[in-house]
Amino acid sequence: MSWELALWLLALCVPLLLVVQLLRFLRADGDLTLLWAEWQGRRPEWELTDMVVWVTGASSGIGEELAYQLSKLGVSLVLSARRVSELERVKRRCLENGNLKGKDILVLPLDLTDRSSHEVATKAVLQEFGKIDILVNNGGRSQRSLCVDTSLDVYKELIELNYLGTVSLTKCVLPHMIERKQGKIVTVNSFMGFMSAPLSSGYCASKHALRGFFNGLGTELYATCPGITVSNICPGPVQSDIVKNALTEEVTKSVGSSGDQSHKMATSRCARLMLVSMANDLKEVWIAEQPFLLMAYLWQYMPTCASWITSKGRKGLRTLRVVW
Ligand SMILES: NC(=O)c1ccc[n+]([C@@H]2O[C@H](COP(=O)([O-])OP(=O)(O)OC[C@H]3O[C@@H](n4cnc5c(N)ncnc54)[C@H](OP(=O)(O)O)[C@@H]3O)[C@@H](O)[C@H]2O)c1
Repeated sequence: MSWELALWLLALCVPLLLVVQLLRFLRADGDLTLLWAEWQGRRPEWELTDMVVWVTGASSGIGEELAYQLSKLGVSLVLSARRVSELERVKRRCLENGNLKGKDILVLPLDLTDRSSHEVATKAVLQEFGKIDILVNNGGRSQRSLCVDTSLDVYKELIELNYLGTVSLTKCVLPHMIERKQGKIVTVNSFMGFMSAPLSSGYCASKHALRGFFNGLGTELYATCPGITVSNICPGPVQSDIVKNALTEEVTKSVGSSGDQSHKMATSRCARLMLVSMANDLKEVWIAEQPFLLMAYLWQYMPTCASWITSKGRKGLRTLRVVW
C-alpha cells in the first residue's frame, strides 16, 4: 500500500472513530472508565462473594436496591438506617429474592447523626460476622431551598448527617480494616460533590466536603495500607425518596413528595454500576444518563459555561426543585 493511500485511509478512519465515540457518549450512562470496567473489567459476581458488606441508608432508594443486588451475590449483609420496620421489610425481600439465609443478614438500626453510637454499632457487626470487608456509606439527605431563605440549622444538619456522620462511621471501621490490611470504603457521593445546582447550597457543601475527605483518606491509605481502597460513587438523578425527604428552609420541614421521577435513572441500573465500581476498585465514578452526564463533563472542563447553563432563569430554578 502506498503512503498516500495509507494517509487517505487514516484521514477517513479518524472522523469515523470520532463519530462512533460521540454516539457511544450520547448513549452512555456512566463515565468512560466505569463503562469500560463494565465491559472488560472484573464482574461483581466473581469479586464480591463471601464478603461482609455494611450498607447505611438501606431502608429505601439506592441503599435498598443495592441490598437486593448484593443479596444475590452471596455476601453477608448489614442493613442500617433509622427506620427498623423498613429495614426488616428490606431484609424479608432480600431473603425472598436472594441467595441468603436469615443468619446472613443483620438489621442494625443506626442514626448517622448520633456519633456516640457508631463505635458500639461497629462492635456489633464485628461480633456478628467477625469482619467488615466493605463499608457502603450511603445514608444521607438532600436539600431544596434558596440560601437566603434557609435557616443555619439546615446547613448544620446536612453537615452533621452527610459529612460528619459518614466520617465518624468510617473512622470507627477503619482501624479494623487497617488491622486486616484490606477492605473497601465506598461512599455514595453525588454529582453535587463536584458541581453545583440552585436550591442545594448546603447539600453541595456537604458532598464537596465528603469528596475532599475521602480523596485525602484514599491517598493516605494508598501510601500506608494499599489493600484498603476508597471510592467515591457520584450519581446524578436516580429514582428514590431523596427529593421527598429533602430538607427545605427549616430543619423540621421536608419536601414531602418525590415529583415526577420518569427522567431519572432506574435505581436498579445505578446499583448495578455501583457493584461494577466496587468489583473494580474504581476511585471515582459518575453515574447518570444524558444530558446530566454531559453537564458533569462541562462542569469539569468549562465550569463558567456550565454554571451559566445550570442557573439560567427563574424557570430553571423552579424546574430544578424536582429535577435533582
Ligand atoms: N437519588 C438521587 O438522585 C441521588 C443522587 C446523588 C446522590 N444520592 C445519594 O444517595 C444516597 C442515598 O439516597 P437515596 O437517593 O437512596 O435517597 P432515600 O431514598 O431518601 O434514602 C436515604 C437513606 O438514608 C437514610 N438516612 C437518612 N437520614 C439518616 C440518618 N440520620 N441516619 C441514618 N440513615 C439516614 C434513610 O433511612 P432512614 O430514614 O430510615 O434513616 C434512607 O435509607 C444519599 O447519600 C444521597 O445523597 C442520591
